[in-house]
Amino acid sequence: MRPDGANCLIFGGGGFIGSHLADELLSLDCNVTIFDKLNFSRRNIEHITADVRIIEGDFNNQVDLENSLAGIDYVFHLVSSTLPANSNENPVYDAETNLLSSLNLFRECVERGVKKLVFLSSGGTVYGIPESVPITEDHPSRPVCSYGIIKKTIEDYLYLFNYLHSLNYVVFRLSNPYGERQNPFASQGAIPVFLNRIMKGEQITVWGDGSVVRDYIYIKDAVKALASSLSHETTHRIFNLSAGSGYSLNELLAVMKEVTGRNDMNVKYEPARNFDVPVSILDNSRIRKELKWKPETSLRDGLIATCNYLKSLND
Ligand SMILES: NC(=O)c1ccc[n+]([C@@H]2O[C@H](COP(=O)([O-])OP(=O)(O)OC[C@H]3O[C@@H](n4cnc5c(N)ncnc54)[C@H](O)[C@@H]3O)[C@@H](O)[C@H]2O)c1
Repeated sequence: MRPDGANCLIFGGGGFIGSHLADELLSLDCNVTIFDKLNFSRRNIEHITADVRIIEGDFNNQVDLENSLAGIDYVFHLVSSTLPANSNENPVYDAETNLLSSLNLFRECVERGVKKLVFLSSGGTVYGIPESVPITEDHPSRPVCSYGIIKKTIEDYLYLFNYLHSLNYVVFRLSNPYGERQNPFASQGAIPVFLNRIMKGEQITVWGDGSVVRDYIYIKDAVKALASSLSHETTHRIFNLSAGSGYSLNELLAVMKEVTGRNDMNVKYEPARNFDVPVSILDNSRIRKELKWKPETSLRDGLIATCNYLKSLND
């Protein structure tokens, strides 16, 4: 079943993932509303501003939340005020801005009879230090950062809202997304940061010996999974969203060398950081089976697309 004509609202729709999701939902003939901060940069959505409705507001403002939901069938919750790396600095802020506002949203979704809420959780943090890889959805959840605790707690509240109020929902525990529009100057996402520096002939820093393994998923594959949840009712509600395979940083750098053609890569190895787990690979059999989804893009092709985007930024 195609979700043609569905009214979809993306909280955080002006961001990296939200803007790709907007593209995907438009390609499925959905009506898309983007909710993002006051005066947010239109750069990620400039090609679709005529095709979407835009609401500027604050996710932490209850009135803004309430007003945005009129007539909405499907809600995508892609807002986060913190990152894994900085969330432990102020857990109170993390809880206030992410957890409490999410609860307001869920209450309002129940009031309005929203058909489904899709929440983007984090496969890299909700499990904590992996006991086994690949990590399945049934792996114990022992986050070692506030960001992961809040993501997991939001998941648990979704379970409660479903139990008490029949709120229909699905959770995606995303691995490491990369691709066009990811900020090459942010502290999250090694791929655009490394690629951008390699392309400019600048030094890159690797923490540890480069053996740390991560599961990288190309953004256009990832948003297809998010959108497909509109047309599938599933047995489970929590899904790993991942490539299902891992690359070490050194392997990643080798592919980057090939796609950029830079044989003069300047890599500096620094002592490992204690919060980097050695291997994180998410098992994706559940999502493949229930959502009939699979990652389509090779790391090489995804990196080429990312390079082309970064070139366009630097031109
Ligand atoms: N990027 C990753 O590696 C990754 C991995 C797993 C999960 N996630 C989750 O995916 C979601 C989207 O991440 P992203 O990488 O696209 O981030 P992003 O920063 O590019 O996008 C988030 C958007 O939310 C908006 N936003 C933040 N606070 C807001 C507020 N109070 N009111 C209105 N809008 C607000 C921002 O302006 C931004 O446009 C987040 O929930 C994040 O936790 C990201």
